[in-house]
Amino acid sequence: MATEFDFNGWMSCQLEAVERALERWVSVDACADLDHHAPADLMAAMRYAVLDGGKRLRPLLVLATVKAVCAAEPLASGEDFEEAACRGGPIEQGFDGDITEAALRAACAVELIHAYSLVHDDLPCMDNDVLRRGKPTVHVQFGQASALLAGDALQALAFELLTPDAAVMPLARQARLCALLARAAGCAGMAGGQAIDLASVGQQLTQEQLRQMHRLKTGALLKASVMMGAGCGSASSATLAALEEFGETLGLAFQVVDDILDVTADSATLGKTAGKDAHDNKPTYVSLLGLPAANALATALLAQAQAALARSGLADAHALQALAKMLVERTH
Ligand code: IPE
Ligand code: IPE
Ligand code: MG
Ligand code: MG
Ligand code: MG
Repeated sequence: MATEFDFNGWMSCQLEAVERALERWVSVDACADLDHHAPADLMAAMRYAVLDGGKRLRPLLVLATVKAVCAAEPLASGEDFEEAACRGGPIEQGFDGDITEAALRAACAVELIHAYSLVHDDLPCMDNDVLRRGKPTVHVQFGQASALLAGDALQALAFELLTPDAAVMPLARQARLCALLARAAGCAGMAGGQAIDLASVGQQLTQEQLRQMHRLKTGALLKASVMMGAGCGSASSATLAALEEFGETLGLAFQVVDDILDVTADSATLGKTAGKDAHDNKPTYVSLLGLPAANALATALLAQAQAALARSGLADAHALQALAKMLVERTH
């Protein structure tokens, strides 16, 4: 009889690996060219932004997708580390298998882009927030110029992680992962969505306009997490299309829930200032539809995402299934 998948066990193991990797890669030691004077302050702001906080949902999405697409291709026995690493082989012993170098780099790269987006999102010229991940925001702690530069440097570091020596990750995979992440972060993705967000303050958007804003500012990076996970292995075009719909739908659901929690949760639970959207007159799913309809939409989007995942034909999608549910049913 098949044993039930231990999602919590799997997740805590992945989270440990991600924390260890971020600690290692966002550090002065990892920057061979960095002397220990002025740039170290910049590194301190970068570390403050990334480490010690955050749910790490995007890295988990990357790793759960890798697990799903790689289930069908176990490591060849007798393969040595170099050979295995070359095709994305293991560097960490995972809960129910190995976490590959490519997967861990992809997971951390997405988290770095996300962390950078939060640092800039909180700046006075954007949302002007003072609390993030339960701590003073980066600009409150280090000043606006340092916050700006820390965000810039985190973005660059994300792409550094995706472009190691060719012996560590094949060049074709590097290019694929960079392309996915660049598109999701840029003007047709997160940055574009943030621009729409700023231009929409005080506006009454249509549901379609709001959907487009959320798809870009938040959904794009979540969808990219799924597609980068898929890019660490190999999947048929039908599976990729289903995963794309899964990521797209889940990404939108995620921001609907962020809008809801801004109204229903308190600052201590969220680790960021609650009630900020209404205070700033931002159009959200709650302001457009009301709370009950926004909740119903999140539930419907989760069901749509789950249906897309079921269509993917992936045999080992348990972690992705559970993660999708956790993302939408979260309380912070
Ligand atoms: C918050 O994202 C910002 C949005 C894109 C809605 P998360 O809720 O994933 O924030 P952290 O990473 O856990 O702090
Ligand atoms: C931010 O959306 C999305 C990003 C790209 C960072 P929000 O402005 O709603 O995120 P929070 O609520 O501050 O985390
Ligand atoms: Mg914002
Ligand atoms: Mg904000
Ligand atoms: Mg928000």
